[in-house]
Amino acid sequence: MSFTPYDRPVRAAFIGLGRIYDLNMRAYLDNPDVEVVALVDPSEDRRLQRQVDWPDAQTFSSAAELAASGLEVDAVEALLPIPLHVEGVVELLGYGWHVNLQKPMCNDLASAEIMNNAAKANDRILRVMENYIFYEPLRKLKETVESGELGEVSGYTMKMVGSGHGGWDVPGSSYKWQFQQMEVGRGILVFDDGWHKLATALWLFGPIKEVRAWVGGTEVFPTVFIDAPTTIMWEHENGVRGVWDITLAPDMYLRSDYYTNDERWEVTGHRGYGRVNRCTGRGIQQPSLEVYAAGEMRSYHALDDDWASSFRDSGRHWLRWLHTGEGPLMWSGDDAVNVLRFALAVYASSEAGGTGISPAEVK
Ligand SMILES: NC(=O)c1ccc[n+]([C@@H]2O[C@H](COP(=O)([O-])OP(=O)(O)OC[C@H]3O[C@@H](n4cnc5c(N)ncnc54)[C@H](O)[C@@H]3O)[C@@H](O)[C@H]2O)c1
Repeated sequence: MSFTPYDRPVRAAFIGLGRIYDLNMRAYLDNPDVEVVALVDPSEDRRLQRQVDWPDAQTFSSAAELAASGLEVDAVEALLPIPLHVEGVVELLGYGWHVNLQKPMCNDLASAEIMNNAAKANDRILRVMENYIFYEPLRKLKETVESGELGEVSGYTMKMVGSGHGGWDVPGSSYKWQFQQMEVGRGILVFDDGWHKLATALWLFGPIKEVRAWVGGTEVFPTVFIDAPTTIMWEHENGVRGVWDITLAPDMYLRSDYYTNDERWEVTGHRGYGRVNRCTGRGIQQPSLEVYAAGEMRSYHALDDDWASSFRDSGRHWLRWLHTGEGPLMWSGDDAVNVLRFALAVYASSEAGGTGISPAEVK
């Protein structure tokens, strides 16, 4: 596609003003690369609430209304419920707007193809926003691995505990569409939050050769099953193996400013290891990154380990990219298809009793 960077601030609109807007909007604050011109949400309460942040922006109850208004828009931040992603993104690209979409991109490969084709047909960019790869402790972990300090990589583990108490309020309306997702087999831990973990694996160690998985379920309310315990194992094309263990602690209180996820990433090398102790929540209260090598432990006390900063930095990266063309995009629609393939291989493997599945071959 023939993208030419803007030689002026990008004119942007938020499409969807719900829970995650609170973090996405941080990229737009005090940012000379952008001017927020419009806010869109069918909820009048949300429009009134968010107008306070951008008094000069115009508000609309739908993207169609914004498009019909004649207001000039270059790019939109699509913060829509997942079941609306496919239809929503095709519509937004069709208006001639570049789109920064929240993850997960969509539920299946056919939908991803429709979305990527819509970007090509309209000669617009579809970015699928991945904030975890902008989280400073994870970036520092990657840098440590690549420096060779840990020696040759032997393998790595990720751990995620979903806890039921603490954190910020999530509106009941968000659970409605999450339940819809669960009904079509795309659970909140493996697929929704999992999208991030699978993305970090691809970002750290590259393409994946084979996946083996065992997806479980725990009934938290009558007929509502959360997709844990789940264990996922894989091997990258470079031979490095990873394991991700997902468990549920429904009665555990976790201190968090956001969602109550207790998360870790640990890379083991021939000479040492590096471990990110937390991300979204504040489970382990040690420095967010610790590196052990040659008999010494180094602790990082001054990283920006507020999860919200990863949204700020991912969004700023996008806006800078639009304004100046400084890349890479991190991540494109095609990169996101690789994350989707990884997730689909997890389901295919689990359904087949844990046999090895290649993400490249999932249908
Ligand atoms: N990166 C992350 O870590 C992260 C975390 C949470 C959510 N998300 C993603 O962000 C997206 C939104 O999640 P959320 O938690 O903010 O959901 P939410 O339910 O809180 O907000 C969605 C908003 O979209 C509005 N909306 C519905 N239909 C619309 C339409 N046609 N046009 C415009 N607005 C419409 C709703 O009124 C609501 O205000 C989802 O894709 C979700 O997966 C990402």
